[in-house]
Amino acid sequence: MLPLLQEIFSSRSVLTPEGARLPLHSHLPLIDGQLLQAWLVERRPRRVLEIGMAYGISSLFICETLTQLGACDYHIVDPFQHTDWCSVGVANLQRAGFENAYVLHVEPSELCLPRLLGEQARFDFAFVDGFHTFDHTLVDFFFVNRMLDVGGIVIFDDVQLPSIQKLMAHVATYPCYRPLPVPIEWESQRAVRVRRLMNSPLTRIGGFTKISDDKRSWSWHHDF
Ligand SMILES: C[S@@+](CC[C@H](N)C(=O)[O-])C[C@H]1O[C@@H](n2cnc3c(N)ncnc32)[C@H](O)[C@@H]1O
Repeated sequence: MLPLLQEIFSSRSVLTPEGARLPLHSHLPLIDGQLLQAWLVERRPRRVLEIGMAYGISSLFICETLTQLGACDYHIVDPFQHTDWCSVGVANLQRAGFENAYVLHVEPSELCLPRLLGEQARFDFAFVDGFHTFDHTLVDFFFVNRMLDVGGIVIFDDVQLPSIQKLMAHVATYPCYRPLPVPIEWESQRAVRVRRLMNSPLTRIGGFTKISDDKRSWSWHHDF
């Protein structure tokens, strides 16, 4: 694991660019960051999209793996990086030496994604962790689906939330998506066994592989 991630998780805090210490919150837990990395290694993407940077914890996990995998286009979307999050995500990526590894779009995903689609952007890995209402995440997914290659993966954070569960139930009805299995070896990790004992969901992230083009007709509908 990156020394910076180790330091952040053990201190449960982050540093602003000016050196002020802030409590860590709203981040991807360590164990789910490692699952995200396992899925990155499995897919070996060339073009990655992330929605929702916050303090940059998931971005650090992603950058760590992408640098091991080789050249990759990595786009991050977050309208509030320099306001609500005090530029800590950007500072963390810089501290870890990843300042040239990504492009940050400081704009809402509902405006940025249609623009990227208009520019004919394509992705083969998308991590959706932005504004978590059902409608917002559905809009994110609508555009991700339009830009995701066949064989690509879309992952959602906070699958325990009713809004995300509803969204995932909807995605599961698409003929072109298959749920992404969790690697067997991941389930034997101590933190996962603790979650099982506590009757908590085993993963906080979940996703789908796009197995074919989206060929639904204009009148397609499936209850969910
Ligand atoms: C749960 S946090 C992301 C946590 C981050 N992935 C991590 O692991 O540290 C949700 C993020 O979504 C961002 N967000 C809120 N509204 C958004 C929007 N309309 N478009 C894109 N991102 C948005 C917030 O600024 C926040 O950074």
